[in-house]
Amino acid sequence: MSRQEDSGFRRIYLDNAASTPIMDEAFKEMIPYLTAYYGNPSSLHALGYESNKGMNIARKRVSSIIGAKPSEIIFTGSGTEADNIAVKGAAYYARKQNSRKNHVVTSAIEHDAVMESCLDLENNGFEVSYMPVNRDGLVDKEKLEESISEKTAVVSIMLANNEIGTIQPIQELVRIVRQRSADILFHTDAVQALGKIRINCNELGVDLMTLSSHKINGPKGVGGLYLREGSKVISLTSGGGQEGYLRSGTENVHGIVGFGKACEVLMQRIDSINKEVRKLRDYLVKRIVNEIPLARYNGPCEPNFRLPNIAHFTFLGVNGEDLLIKIDEYGVAASTGSACSVRKQKESHVLRAMGFGLPEISGSLRLSLGPYNTKDEIDRGIAVLKVAVAELREVSPLKNTSH
Ligand SMILES: Cc1ncc(COP(=O)(O)O)c(C=O)c1O
Repeated sequence: MSRQEDSGFRRIYLDNAASTPIMDEAFKEMIPYLTAYYGNPSSLHALGYESNKGMNIARKRVSSIIGAKPSEIIFTGSGTEADNIAVKGAAYYARKQNSRKNHVVTSAIEHDAVMESCLDLENNGFEVSYMPVNRDGLVDKEKLEESISEKTAVVSIMLANNEIGTIQPIQELVRIVRQRSADILFHTDAVQALGKIRINCNELGVDLMTLSSHKINGPKGVGGLYLREGSKVISLTSGGGQEGYLRSGTENVHGIVGFGKACEVLMQRIDSINKEVRKLRDYLVKRIVNEIPLARYNGPCEPNFRLPNIAHFTFLGVNGEDLLIKIDEYGVAASTGSACSVRKQKESHVLRAMGFGLPEISGSLRLSLGPYNTKDEIDRGIAVLKVAVAELREVSPLKNTSH
């Protein structure tokens, strides 16, 4: 993929794990659904039929990319909403069937959409076990096994982490859970993994999976929930009964169409795109670690356990937020981690759970790449980072310590 800059100042966007530019193919496919096919997909007239047809095509494309059936995809307004339906909807459904089912298991490094859903469940009488992770962000399998009991209703463990890029061995975790109890629903948040690694919901063995469009060069405001045939959740919204009564509200047809197109394009090009992205990411990491003193690359070394697009660093003696602001002044967009954590001004629970101390957490920076990044941008980004780190270290109170 390639993309022309509009004009003027060329920003270097290294925050693709937060959101992505829309791909031309998806954008073009959406336009008729904003202009010509504006009918409500539930309407019985021709315009409604056209909208519905567009959504059905999208449902096929989204289901294909994860090896699901079209009928197993529920469109939502975001990944966050899909996480809420999955975690809370499944837990409440299970407890309704059997009042002893009041336990949920998750990991200590989930996105806030899952974390806050779990907190909500705790406030409503559920017990939640948060699985610890090791220094690479991998879930402790023994603890997971020990945590499962006949009271467990749902297990929710993310496929790939948004801050560090760690990929969990979900297939194995599902097997551990199923060996302990067969009637537990297993949910995985695949928002960061979608389009970055090949995913097959049947091979993974999960019952529920969360997807989001804007992380894969699709439009914002669209998410998807995979719900395995026969798995049950309760609806969290009351209304017209759209999306199999699980997500009432008129569907975001053009957004859904764009999401579907993005999935179709990625299905065809996922391997070549990610080979290129991985190559650039590895080049970036090598140069940063070699050229910036005391720069540390965080996360698993084993490539199978990390996404191809995320690089997470600690620059000791530097405050990550100061660094972010400084490189932004030079035209480079990055992140200290999750956008949600930044809004809440809290330290990263992910890094804390991985055993990072405060200096390591506060000196952290996430660079996340996408298919539109070029080697020239990476070179310019590194040059900016070198200057910014040096400038900040010059005024750092830790300047004369050994870090
Ligand atoms: C792992 C993970 N889950 C869920 C979400 C939420 O997705 P959305 O932005 O579509 O609500 C994000 C977004 O950053 C994410 O990284």
